[in-house]
Amino acid sequence: MWGGRFAEGPTAVMRAINASIPFDKRLWRQDIAGSKAHVAMLGATGIVSAEDAATISAGLDTVAAQYAEHGVAEDMVLEDIHMQSESRLAEAIGPVAGRLHTARSRNDQVATDFKLWVRDAIDEVDAALGAFQDALLARAEQHADSVMPGFTHLQSAQPVTLGHHLMAYYEMIARDRSRFADARARMNLSPLGSAALAGTGFPIDREMTAAALGFDGPTRNSLDGVSDRDFAIDYLTSATQCSLHLSRLAEEFVLWASQPFGFVALSDQWSTGSSIMPQKRNPDAAELVRGHAGRILGCMTALMVTMKGLPLAYSKDMQDDKPPVFEAHDLLGLSIAAMTGMVESATFRTDRMRGLAEAGFATATDLADWLVREAGVPFREAHHITGQAVARAEALGVKLDALPLGDLQAIDARIDDRVYGVLSVDASVASRTSFGGTAPSRVRAAIAAAREGKRS
Ligand code: ARG
Repeated sequence: MWGGRFAEGPTAVMRAINASIPFDKRLWRQDIAGSKAHVAMLGATGIVSAEDAATISAGLDTVAAQYAEHGVAEDMVLEDIHMQSESRLAEAIGPVAGRLHTARSRNDQVATDFKLWVRDAIDEVDAALGAFQDALLARAEQHADSVMPGFTHLQSAQPVTLGHHLMAYYEMIARDRSRFADARARMNLSPLGSAALAGTGFPIDREMTAAALGFDGPTRNSLDGVSDRDFAIDYLTSATQCSLHLSRLAEEFVLWASQPFGFVALSDQWSTGSSIMPQKRNPDAAELVRGHAGRILGCMTALMVTMKGLPLAYSKDMQDDKPPVFEAHDLLGLSIAAMTGMVESATFRTDRMRGLAEAGFATATDLADWLVREAGVPFREAHHITGQAVARAEALGVKLDALPLGDLQAIDARIDDRVYGVLSVDASVASRTSFGGTAPSRVRAAIAAAREGKRS
């Protein structure tokens, strides 16, 4: 298609390094859509005759039907999906196919196709994340009262509820969705009509093609139009942050499924066995979600490094933009689906969680707060008194709420038996009614607000 000035063809290695069809065939739907918008505009503006435009448009439908039925052939000679489609078109309708590429370059064509693909990818991710949030909400509601140890430094800190813990992930995913939505809004301008880099002398109508492809309008600078890949990087940074969240939950599932924790039993469907140790039930899917986050981050890094040294406008390095985005999208889709399935089907061992919440002196802060509130003790002093009470309970081998009143009063005479009202884990979580706190009443309110889409 570009051989006019060449006496010799490319070597086999040149062909191999140059070809992007093995991966960019994934853009075929977007390529056909972009071409149909372009040729409709060429017809409407009289740049090609209405008759030729109609022939080309029908031919593109034929090519699309062939792709849908047989897939896209990996013909290295034809380099990429754009040449592939044009060649198929010529086979279908003859030489009039050669008019399609009027006032267009592969540079604005590929930028348009890829943007359309990333936009669809964002819509897919958003739907999957919505389903994941639904799963989190359902399980959080079930466990709005289930007490578990809350950790800092992975040491028992204060009791929380499992519902509250799951809702923390709901919030992270809400931010992820908003990042993807921002990326989608920002990218939604059409590069089509930027041509190779400088625009074109043909009287094209960029508003028309932009509208036909669902863009808000045309990009405002042709050099930027063909060389911008921010939209792909925005997708990858959003995907990376999302994968970090999925990975943190995956890591918690791995920990929680371990025997020392025993907080969760993953369903059979989301576990694997060992070929040598018959008792094993491994959380492989969670581990792979954790692993995939590293690969997704790698994809983001790859594209940023590709772009960082490129002068304007298009350079062939930019052909390498697609594999990392495709890879990240596939890994993210699997990760979201796997975490959704695990959350939906996990059995939470609430007895075990409660037992450990009670074992770790996790209500020590409640004792200190009681001393402040009921006995007027300054918090620092209350902290010290409580530390002594914890040491005494540890020495006796009892929980804080089983420490005899005599022992407590020996440490500080201002303590009386009302203190037992705050030392149980249930009393502790129920008292945390501050906005965003772990009290079951608050967790239920947060779930209700999320369901109504009213996020206060
Ligand atoms: N396959 C190329 C890509 O993905 C299409 C653009 C080619 N443009 C060019 N001037 N060689 O980037």
